[in-house]
Amino acid sequence: MSKPKILIARAIFGETIERLSQHFDVESNQTDDVWPKALLIEKLKGKEGVFTTGSERIDGELLDACPELKICANMAVGYNNFDIDAMVAHGVTGTNAPDVLTETTADFGFALLMATARRISESEHYLRAGKWTKWAYDMFSGSDIHGATLGIIGMGRIGQGIAKRGAHGFGMKVIYHNRSRLDAALEAECKATYVGKEELLRNADHVVLVVPYTPASHHTIGAVELALMKPTATLVNIARGGIVDDAALAAALRDKRIAAAGLDVFEGEPKVHPDLLTVPNVVLTPHIASATVPTRRAMAELAADNLIAFFGGKGPVTPVTPVTSLAKK
Ligand code: GLV
Repeated sequence: MSKPKILIARAIFGETIERLSQHFDVESNQTDDVWPKALLIEKLKGKEGVFTTGSERIDGELLDACPELKICANMAVGYNNFDIDAMVAHGVTGTNAPDVLTETTADFGFALLMATARRISESEHYLRAGKWTKWAYDMFSGSDIHGATLGIIGMGRIGQGIAKRGAHGFGMKVIYHNRSRLDAALEAECKATYVGKEELLRNADHVVLVVPYTPASHHTIGAVELALMKPTATLVNIARGGIVDDAALAAALRDKRIAAAGLDVFEGEPKVHPDLLTVPNVVLTPHIASATVPTRRAMAELAADNLIAFFGGKGPVTPVTPVTSLAKK
């Protein structure tokens, strides 16, 4: 019996390709070319499954052109690259890669927060540029993490991980805002208090964004919200580009309307708003919050598990669409 044909849309661990090749006829992209949409469609012709990384847009136009496609398995917890309505309309299953990256991503959120509040990148650039000639009492003074108020917008698993690090590790007062309030036991575990968004922005010393990207969360933080924040506050975005209005943020940083920002994700990435590149009080990283070797391996394994389970008739492990049976498609 011939194996189902799948496409791995970006470069990935050799072991993942070997494992998938035991089950599928695999075409992979180990040269890691970023294919324009037309080429992705071309590559997907005749494929029943695709392993995506979160960068490849799966929409109605692509699905119309690739009628054999049954499942798109994202190696990412976020899946805003999927047009879920179009996938449901085409009977295509989508899966993501949750849980395996929670702690790693929460670690990174905290690292970015600390680098931002304590001006680590900015001071390193200064040193590397040979500008450090003497110690000074006010050199790169930042703001404290310990004992400060941490405001988390988006209290899913990663938000909860950051809350626990802040409350238990650094004695922070944690406030959060989320679409729905956590149950009392989880709030107690995270030592977190639910507040409205405006109250959070006004009171937090550090604001961390971990909300999924949807049309409703577009520009959760724009000029109006930045104006509510303390002038000493820091803002960290490890969620998705588009959650923050990057142009408004660059202006606020330039005018010192907030103290600093740490950004791992950007509107229109990998492009970065040029104004963000010119302000010193921002730490910029290239979407690496889940990037540790064990976690990236676990994410790839989970995406592969989803493809294998789906075509094995067991149903995907971590679906984000209503599960479509193979027979129905
Ligand atoms: C990374 O951004 C992810 O969604 O996994």
